[in-house]
Amino acid sequence: MATRIDGKALAAKVKAEVAAEAVKLPRQPGLAVVLVGENPASQVYVRGKEADWAECGMRSFPYRLSTETTQQELLKLIDELNANPEVDGILVQLPLPKPLDEEPVINRIAADKDVDCFHPYNVGKLTIGEPVFRPCTPAGVMEMLEEYHIPVAGKHCVVLGRSNIVGKPMASLLLQQSGTVTICHSKTENLAEITRQADILVSAVGKVNTVTADMVKDGAVIIDVAMNRNAEGKLCGDVDFANVEPKASYITPVPGGCGPMTRAVLMRNILTAAENHLK
Ligand code: GUN
Repeated sequence: MATRIDGKALAAKVKAEVAAEAVKLPRQPGLAVVLVGENPASQVYVRGKEADWAECGMRSFPYRLSTETTQQELLKLIDELNANPEVDGILVQLPLPKPLDEEPVINRIAADKDVDCFHPYNVGKLTIGEPVFRPCTPAGVMEMLEEYHIPVAGKHCVVLGRSNIVGKPMASLLLQQSGTVTICHSKTENLAEITRQADILVSAVGKVNTVTADMVKDGAVIIDVAMNRNAEGKLCGDVDFANVEPKASYITPVPGGCGPMTRAVLMRNILTAAENHLK
C-alpha cells in the first residue's frame, strides 16, 4: 500500500517559511490577481489563493473583470500593474474567456512580475536551468518528491499531458534533476505500455480515470496534478485512486496533494519577486 504524500502539510510548512520572511521586508509583498469572466473552477482557484496570501502577510490587488473586457483593456491593465511599484507579482488566471487571446497578455506581463513563470523569457530561462521563478505546479511536485526523499536521477519519469502550464515545465524540471523523461499526450500510441515503464508517473490530463491500475508498475510513484469532478460531483484527479494506491509506493491524493503545493510555491515566488524589487 502506498504512502500518501501530504501536500497540505508540506504547503503549510512552506507558507509558514514565506510568512516569516515576508514580515522582515520593509513593505508587504503585493500580488495582483486578474480574473476575467465567470469560470467556476477559476473562481475556486482564486478564492483559495486569496486565503493563502492573507496567511502569508501579502497584500492583494484583486481585479474581477467582466466577460465583456476587451483585449486592449486587459493589456492596458497589465501595463498599469507593470508600472505599479507596490505590485510584485501579476497573475492572470487562465483560461481567459473567448475571444480574448492569452498569448499577448502573458507576453505583456513584465518578466520580473511573472510569478507563474509563463512568460517566454522565463520559460526560456527555465529550460536552460536558470529560472527566475519556478512554475508553481511543477515546482510543487519537485518539492514533494524531495520532501519524501524520492530519487529522480536516472529514473523513468513519464508525464501525461503537454500543456504549457504543467506538462512541458514538469518535464523540464524532472530533466534538470537527471530524470529520464517521456512526455505522453492525446496522440501517444500504446500509452499503457509506456506508463507501465514509469518509476514516477505524473498525470496532468484533466480527465477522470485516465490512469488505471493496469497502467501502473508495482512500486511506482504516482503524482496526480489534475482537479476533476467525478459523476457524483466529487473532487478527484486523473488517477483511479482506490485501485492504483495498493500498487504504488507513493501517491498524491486529490484534494490535498498537488493543489496546496501549487499555491505555496506561488507564495514563495511572490516573496522572491518582492525581495528582488526591494534590493
Ligand atoms: N489556471 C490553472 N492553473 C493556473 C495557474 O497556476 N496560474 C494561472 N495564472 N492560471 C491557471
